[in-house]
Amino acid sequence: MYRTNNCGELNINFVNKEVKLSGWVQKIRNLGGMTFIDLRDKYGITQLVFDIETNENLCEKARKLGREYVISVEGKVAERSNKNKKIFTGEIEIIVNKLIILNASETPPFTIEDKTDGGDELRMKYRYLDLRRNVNQKNLILRHKMAFEVRKYLNNLNFVDIETPVLIKSTPEGARDFVVPSRMNKGEFYALPQSPQIFKQLLMIAGYDRYYQIVKCFRDEDLRADRQLEFTQIDCEMSFVEQEDVLEAFEGMAKHLFKKIKNFDYKKKFLQLTYEDAINFYGTDKPDLRFGMKIKNLTEIAKNKNFEVFNNSEFIAGISVEKSANYSRKNLDKLTKFVRKPQIGAKGLVYVKYNEDGSFKSSVDKFYDKKDLSNWAENMNAKKGDLLLILFGEKNHTLNALSELRLEMGERMGLRDNNKFEPLWVVDFPLLEWKEEDKRYNAMHHPFTSPKKEDIHLLDTDASKVRANAYDLVINGVEIGGGSIRIFDKNLQAKMFKLLGFTKEKAENQFGFLMNAFKYGAPPHGGCAFGFDRWVALFADVKSIKDVIAFPKNNSGKDLMINTPSEIEDEQLKELFLQKI
Ligand code: AMO
Repeated sequence: MYRTNNCGELNINFVNKEVKLSGWVQKIRNLGGMTFIDLRDKYGITQLVFDIETNENLCEKARKLGREYVISVEGKVAERSNKNKKIFTGEIEIIVNKLIILNASETPPFTIEDKTDGGDELRMKYRYLDLRRNVNQKNLILRHKMAFEVRKYLNNLNFVDIETPVLIKSTPEGARDFVVPSRMNKGEFYALPQSPQIFKQLLMIAGYDRYYQIVKCFRDEDLRADRQLEFTQIDCEMSFVEQEDVLEAFEGMAKHLFKKIKNFDYKKKFLQLTYEDAINFYGTDKPDLRFGMKIKNLTEIAKNKNFEVFNNSEFIAGISVEKSANYSRKNLDKLTKFVRKPQIGAKGLVYVKYNEDGSFKSSVDKFYDKKDLSNWAENMNAKKGDLLLILFGEKNHTLNALSELRLEMGERMGLRDNNKFEPLWVVDFPLLEWKEEDKRYNAMHHPFTSPKKEDIHLLDTDASKVRANAYDLVINGVEIGGGSIRIFDKNLQAKMFKLLGFTKEKAENQFGFLMNAFKYGAPPHGGCAFGFDRWVALFADVKSIKDVIAFPKNNSGKDLMINTPSEIEDEQLKELFLQKI
């Protein structure tokens, strides 16, 4: 037997008990004739004591141990004179009488502490050591708990967990596919699923009524803090539902997770904001509602003075920042630099200070008098003491830049409090978006999303105006999930493929099986999928989803630990009918 107890459970109630513990050496300290070792396992840290006076050999042996050695000890629990109230085991120590070295360890390449000295790349190369750190362990355990609660919640609503295949045909989620060559079928390839979209729809046709799966999805796209090549979805589908039914079921799931994981009672019904309002008020379809600062359009009232910059702008709009009229010149310069960064791309920043004494000071005083500025302030619902920040230019571009500026100001003012959660549904997405470079429409969500009944007639006349029965769940400015009510009529589906530029043959080749299935009694259905990594990262309060994935890829899509992707043997290439070029 390696242990009677773990390293996180002994306290004052166990004094005088003989115990056996096993774990890793976290730290060794020699103080006079005494040697202290912090022994660590998944459950915590327990202090071991070796006394040179009572057992010289044992103490010598202990002094030769190094960090991360795996040891097993026997001894007696004793009350500590120097208590550490910060940890559960801090009132006791083990007076060791037997020490077995189970495995030696080389000195680890970085310290296995909360604040480590190892850089990102090094820690990814030795991910198994990085995962020993408390912070990572905490995140993975949180992930486990969330998955467990999701399963409990969905099980209670009669959802059935059904696995779907990984070697499939391309799924149209808008990213590039990962492909796998087939050895048995010369020149043919599988694609890895970007999501189980088509299979879950087929399961509805098969009569399973409510499906879910916590499932890996694969998308070959450029990586960001919230994107990985392989990531996990909580994927769901329901039959005989309308949009409100789906939103209700998954609003319930979100509330369940808030309660069980964050001990946070979100009582209100989630706000539903149309896509159009989200863009107009916040400049983005994933607004952070932990703070206000809505965008206000000034195009009409700010034009037609002598300020050519505004006169030549399609769109002029701004945000009003509370109690910030005293912003310094230096800070305003910094903000100007911020909005001009290439990734934000504003041409410049106009500010108006609405001072406490009612006077105005602006960067456009030459062109606008007090009456004009006061009119702007009134339009933006600004109060004395507020700072107006205004951007201008092409409409979509400017809205996008304003969205970034709003987030930056929220950050600067400490309004993006990570202990607060503000969820909302963004609804009524456009069904299609025009791709100028391809001169055709793309599905905004995916090709199986149903148009709103009342907009179907526009499909033939003004397709860009058609709204979809599609929705996203957004929490604190993060797109946590999205879904839609699906098309379940084969004629409408065929029309949709045509609008998306599929020829009859291509649609038949890629989705023939689905169109065929629609002939055999497809029920009305809809569903959604949540980015599980993103949701865990939000609850763990970490910036990157890499921190909540056991073995993530780096930003170039590499796993530095197993050194992949990597070349394969010529023999293997040949077998797969592939050639190096
Ligand atoms: P969608 O493509 O919106 O919908 O994906 C659902 C959610 O998955 C997460 N997500 C990602 N997370 C990490 N890395 C990525 N590369 C990545 N891509 C997406 C996001 C996103 O909201 N089949 C549809 C769902 C449906 O209609 O039911 C789908 O996959 O949080």
